[in-house]
Amino acid sequence: MSIYVTGDCHSSFSRFSTKAFPEQKGMDREKDFVIVCGDLALIWDQEETSFERYWMDWFEKKPFTTLFVDGNHENHPRLSAYPVRDFAGGRVHELRPHLLHLMRGEMYRICGKRIFTFGGARSHDIDDGVLDPVEDAARIRRWRGDGEHDFRVMGVSWWPQEMPSEEEMAHGLRTLEAAGWETDYFVTHEAPSSIRKILQEEGIPKRAGKSPAGISSGEELCAYLETIRSRCRYRKWFFGHLHDERQAGEREYLLYHSIIPAEDGEPGGE
Ligand SMILES: [Fe+2]
Repeated sequence: MSIYVTGDCHSSFSRFSTKAFPEQKGMDREKDFVIVCGDLALIWDQEETSFERYWMDWFEKKPFTTLFVDGNHENHPRLSAYPVRDFAGGRVHELRPHLLHLMRGEMYRICGKRIFTFGGARSHDIDDGVLDPVEDAARIRRWRGDGEHDFRVMGVSWWPQEMPSEEEMAHGLRTLEAAGWETDYFVTHEAPSSIRKILQEEGIPKRAGKSPAGISSGEELCAYLETIRSRCRYRKWFFGHLHDERQAGEREYLLYHSIIPAEDGEPGGE
């Protein structure tokens, strides 16, 4: 019985191969779980593709159950169109019976641990804007691949649902209230503002030729998570989004490529 956690995948799943993640040998998908802290980015295109089907089936055959919170880089409308079902005390979108999206503001009990989840984040690769696929078509063609412009395209590579709604935030507060403001783990994509500040001073997230994205890029969500953090008793907080890995606070862990055991792992360690 185990829980492992990892960070952003961006449609690249080699870290879950048996060679890269040998701990899966002997796992049982009813008892062993790997949680992705957002930006799985498997559901991405305008409609289901053979790529998506291949990888959903690949995950379904794994000897562990794959769970993920949403990041900013997901096709949110399509993700939320998958069937909702109950799982471990909370609600999930079921992509496959053992590939499940952990929804915003839910509390699960997995392997005897309480896990509160809250996906979403403000993209920080849109300095040059979110462009309209029709009105800005010429500019998109010019900028695509020039390596100079940070932009995304509305409804094609960016969706406004990357940031949570007021209702989702309120739901999260109600869930924590019902849980007595206590959980074992937080799994989110974004980080609380105090943790973002620590990382910002360390130059995280690194961006080639640019200063680190400040917390202003996701201020409302960071502030919301900070409110929760200051109010809750918890053991560990796992998050992604900033494309690095390190312990960021006393109990807060930024994850990226490593898959670590939730209970005693250290990001970037063996
Ligand atoms: Fe990411």
